[in-house]
Amino acid sequence: ETTWLVVPAAGQGKRMGAEIPKQYLTLQGTPILALTLQRLYAALPDARLVLCLDTQDHWFAPSWVPFEHWQRVPGGTERMDSVLNALQTLNAAEDDLVLVHDVARPCVAVEDLKAVEKAARDNTSGALLAMPVADTMKRAAASGSIAHTESRESLWHALTPQGFRYGPLRRALEHARAHATQVTDEASALEAMGEFPQLISGRRDNIKVTHPDDLALASAILNAQKHAYI
Ligand code: CTP
Ligand code: MG
Repeated sequence: ETTWLVVPAAGQGKRMGAEIPKQYLTLQGTPILALTLQRLYAALPDARLVLCLDTQDHWFAPSWVPFEHWQRVPGGTERMDSVLNALQTLNAAEDDLVLVHDVARPCVAVEDLKAVEKAARDNTSGALLAMPVADTMKRAAASGSIAHTESRESLWHALTPQGFRYGPLRRALEHARAHATQVTDEASALEAMGEFPQLISGRRDNIKVTHPDDLALASAILNAQKHAYI
């Protein structure tokens, strides 16, 4: 059974504000993109990789790809467009499993990758890594004062990977695009179709490298993880 790994890596990294897209910044001497692909490969070596890259990208090096089967596809305007381009390009079967993982999450743990792959296989609506919210959550009024306090009991952060069967995922994203619905993750596109993916509690260190201070944090996380990984 084929597992596809879609890795959107066509972002500009505007919030990082670096000279180059953040996925090409290095942590401990290795580009973030290469680190992320190494992690994915350690967990899912038989998967087929689909890498979404900007057509203007001139930083990518194919030698960073450890997978035997892989292809690159052009990125789109938004993350969802990049993912949908990948799905429309690859030659997958209706029931093939597709895991989507942000290139900006190089710290994802091998055991979490395996767990979410299994959960996505076992749940008809798919599954995603997620993390319970730790802080008290406030909803703001327009004035900037608190409107009310949300119960944090059932609130989760949605992380990646998110995994689904190819057919339903592609139709959900095509539906979102056709209706101009802004979806920021795959799960919400499935939700709009009446599917409710399974939340899989993942490690708290699966951060998305977004702002400049995330670089030191990600580097420290990788260091702390070193003994646990290949
Ligand atoms: N991404 C993509 N295509 C886009 C936009 C984003 O493939 N048009 C990817 C990014 O490369 C990243 C993931 O989607 O792996 C999550 O996006 P984000 O963290 O927002 O990255 P950027 O869009 O690069 O950062 P920013 O929003 O700060 O510009
Ligand atoms: Mg972005």
